[in-house]
Amino acid sequence: MNSFSPRVNTLLKEMTLNEKIGQTFQIVAGFYHEEGIKIEDLTGPITDETVAEDVLWNIGSIIDNASCDPERNRRVQETFLEHNRLGIPLLFMADIIHGYKTCFPIPLAMTCAFDPEPVLEYARTAAAEARAAGIHVTFSPMLDLSRDCRWGRVMEGPGEDPFLGEMAARAYVEGYQGANEDELKRQDRLAATLKHFAGYGFVMGGRDYDETDITEHTLREYVLRAFKAGVDAGAELVMSSFTTFEGVPANGNKKLMQDILRGELGFKGVLISDCGSINRIQGYHVAASGKEASRMAVDAGCDIDMMGFRYINDIKTLLAEKKMTMEQLDEMVGRILTLKEKLGLFEDPFKGISKERTDALYLCEDHRAKARRAAQKSMVLLQNNGLLPFSKDVKTVAVIGPNGGDININGNWSSHCDCKDSVKVYEGVQNAIPGANVLLERGCEFTARDEALLHRAVEAAKQADLVLLALGEKDCWSGEACSTTNIALTPCQMELARAVVKANPKTVALLINGRPMDLTELSGFAPAILECWFPGTEGGNAIADLVFGDVEPTGRLAMSFPYCVGQVPTYYNRSQVSHYNPSGSPNVWFQLRYSNCSIHPRFAFGHGLGYTKFSYKGLTVPAAMIRGGEITVSCTVANEGDRPGTETVQLYLRDEFAQVIRPLKELKGVQKVTLQPGEERLVSFTITEEMLKYHHRDFSFCADAGAFQVFIGHDSTVEEYKVFELKDEYPAAERQ
Ligand code: BGC
Repeated sequence: MNSFSPRVNTLLKEMTLNEKIGQTFQIVAGFYHEEGIKIEDLTGPITDETVAEDVLWNIGSIIDNASCDPERNRRVQETFLEHNRLGIPLLFMADIIHGYKTCFPIPLAMTCAFDPEPVLEYARTAAAEARAAGIHVTFSPMLDLSRDCRWGRVMEGPGEDPFLGEMAARAYVEGYQGANEDELKRQDRLAATLKHFAGYGFVMGGRDYDETDITEHTLREYVLRAFKAGVDAGAELVMSSFTTFEGVPANGNKKLMQDILRGELGFKGVLISDCGSINRIQGYHVAASGKEASRMAVDAGCDIDMMGFRYINDIKTLLAEKKMTMEQLDEMVGRILTLKEKLGLFEDPFKGISKERTDALYLCEDHRAKARRAAQKSMVLLQNNGLLPFSKDVKTVAVIGPNGGDININGNWSSHCDCKDSVKVYEGVQNAIPGANVLLERGCEFTARDEALLHRAVEAAKQADLVLLALGEKDCWSGEACSTTNIALTPCQMELARAVVKANPKTVALLINGRPMDLTELSGFAPAILECWFPGTEGGNAIADLVFGDVEPTGRLAMSFPYCVGQVPTYYNRSQVSHYNPSGSPNVWFQLRYSNCSIHPRFAFGHGLGYTKFSYKGLTVPAAMIRGGEITVSCTVANEGDRPGTETVQLYLRDEFAQVIRPLKELKGVQKVTLQPGEERLVSFTITEEMLKYHHRDFSFCADAGAFQVFIGHDSTVEEYKVFELKDEYPAAERQ
């Protein structure tokens, strides 16, 4: 007996085979989203793909990454329902990654807040805007832990740390879906998709779509944690990865999908392939035909074939050849119908779709204010010789650089957002200081030097009281299929930077980009560097807020910045190894070293400056924790500067001995503490046995008795620690 509702079971009884197969099929909305085109036109392009018409009217879902037009979406649904025999509505899905109309900072940036709030605010905002346009499912959050900034998709994810990944996962799911299942029916909620299951962040050489070769230990200890948090938070969908695990494509990997995802993590929702990825199983040469690829995906429990045209062509044959069962198909279809039911589509397939609502919601003041706060919290002040914050008492500000003008500062995964709606860097300065003379100079193209532009930029820099030098990446340089072997700023941008700083030392380098970059040379001479990421709709305003000190920078790096691309992968939670070299120096032989570079990153995980200085003292750690109990550790944090400020206090643990190699440090807690000048506060964290657990040689998840080091500090480089012992029980003498 299945666990589906009476309605879903009744439908399953009534549906014909074609109607069932249709549910597992997803096509791109572009087939019928041209202005004025009715759904009847569907048959045109799709018949070219040899899909029978009786299936077309039974399609389960569409992917819509272009239209934000509620009326068009309503029309599509209406026409579809007129043709669909049982009145089963279409699901509208879309890649809403960091904004629908109001664009928030890229996900990697929002993780840098070390605080779930920006993600929560973003997800609520995006859900409200998108549902009003008729979208039901977002292909977000992307939870791929990644250590390799050559991979362009690091911009979509939570960075290198599983603790932050878990924090992000919970916030995205709660923000999109609401706090409980019933909220999904609301007109301002979306169903969330955890992706890409699993291990995509470990593509070889950072090359998008390449194979992955990670151990089951790495998978469980690092990769799965955010997914588990997302499943526990109730995410309705999971998307499979394009990549492989243990040599088997994820999409057809029974161990990964059935045993681990559905079995161990307890995922009960809809599993969707990535775009065409069932078909692409053939490209791995582990399935001799499309039909065999479909069989692998069915066996792995994949319910929806996104844009692959495999299920639609193969399922009938697989059934006829007894290579899959009707029970399997009913399970797949039952899960898809259940999602439609949970979204309330059977009661009202048009719930929330309204032009009045989109007019009121898109880019409204409230949404813009939230995007601005998220951008403020995401930016990371990497270095500052005291230049920042800069007084607003300026006459002339020069905004120089290829990212300073009318350019896309939303990033590559924001197809629904219009970059014209975004406040550019120079506009942010104009808004902040209406009386100021703002000079705008490109200085160079992203990749090409231009003598005349360079000259004009230097002249502008000379005239200015302050220069904002906006460098970084073009929006399309990071994101899917955007791997690179070079993470440095382009030579012409570096030439510009050198010339501008020479012309005017009151220069702040603003970086607008989607991945950690090689800032080694720039950090050698730039008075201040603010990592702004792709900051979204309110980017320019948020930058001005920080530069002129209306708001203090509080972001911290969620990914390490290496000295150079040759150091990649660089990640703070690296394992303890026999030849570890704490100094990182090249001058130590026969230990972990590069002959020409430190082994440590240029800017470490957790790093980020504010406008005041904090000190830490009095780390207090009890001697022991009894299994099943908990301890409180603490430290006094003081604001030593003359401005109020917010410190991101970070708790790290290190397990001294274990059955398998364990990280040098693991982030286990974060607290934001706001202190007035001269104020100090005791900051405490609770450590539980749960926080000490890891996967053993047999993959059991538990904590061993023994010593653990506790660090509380500003970032992952914190050195001072105290030790406690996890004990199985009190020694007899202490028992009474
Ligand atoms: C990406 C997914 C995305 C899908 C649909 C794929 O190429 O890997 O992340 O959700 O396309 O646009």
